[in-house]
Amino acid sequence: MFSIGIITASDKGARGEREDISGKTIASMLAGIGEVKHYTVVPDDKDILSREIIRMADEMMIDLILTTGGTGLGPRDVTPEATLAVIDRHVPGIPEVMRAKSLEKTSRAMLSRAVAGLRGRTLIINLPGSPKGVQECLEVVLPALEHGLAIMK
Ligand code: MTE
Repeated sequence: MFSIGIITASDKGARGEREDISGKTIASMLAGIGEVKHYTVVPDDKDILSREIIRMADEMMIDLILTTGGTGLGPRDVTPEATLAVIDRHVPGIPEVMRAKSLEKTSRAMLSRAVAGLRGRTLIINLPGSPKGVQECLEVVLPALEHGLAIMK
């Protein structure tokens, strides 16, 4: 079993104005491969997001961090930039396959700028913000995820 961290990037969620269905969707979809050690809802702020990723990776030694939200084109969508600022190595195949498969469902999939990468022995994957986006993207990644996490150790 792997340790999992979930970061929901949402201004409204952080203010308590929106229930975080997407974060809960991630937790239930990953129940078979790991245990959620840390879960947080933060505003769409690059420094806060980067700090949270660093804390989970370096201090909590979490194996897998999933972010949801803030990958689009809105002025406050900065999750990819916050991720890119703290990863050592890119894992481009993950966002490539998420976008490719999602495009079969919605042309809006091209609007997600999600990235994935490694910080030390932690894999960080951005997911879109909607529960549907989370589900469709995670479904695509799940079959290869356990093997990916296993070879990172
Ligand atoms: N990917 C899938 N599989 N399903 C979706 O419904 N929504 C898209 C896209 N990716 C979507 C998806 C939409 S509408 C947007 S705007 C972008 O993700 C970015 O979403 P975010 O800003 O909430 O991260």
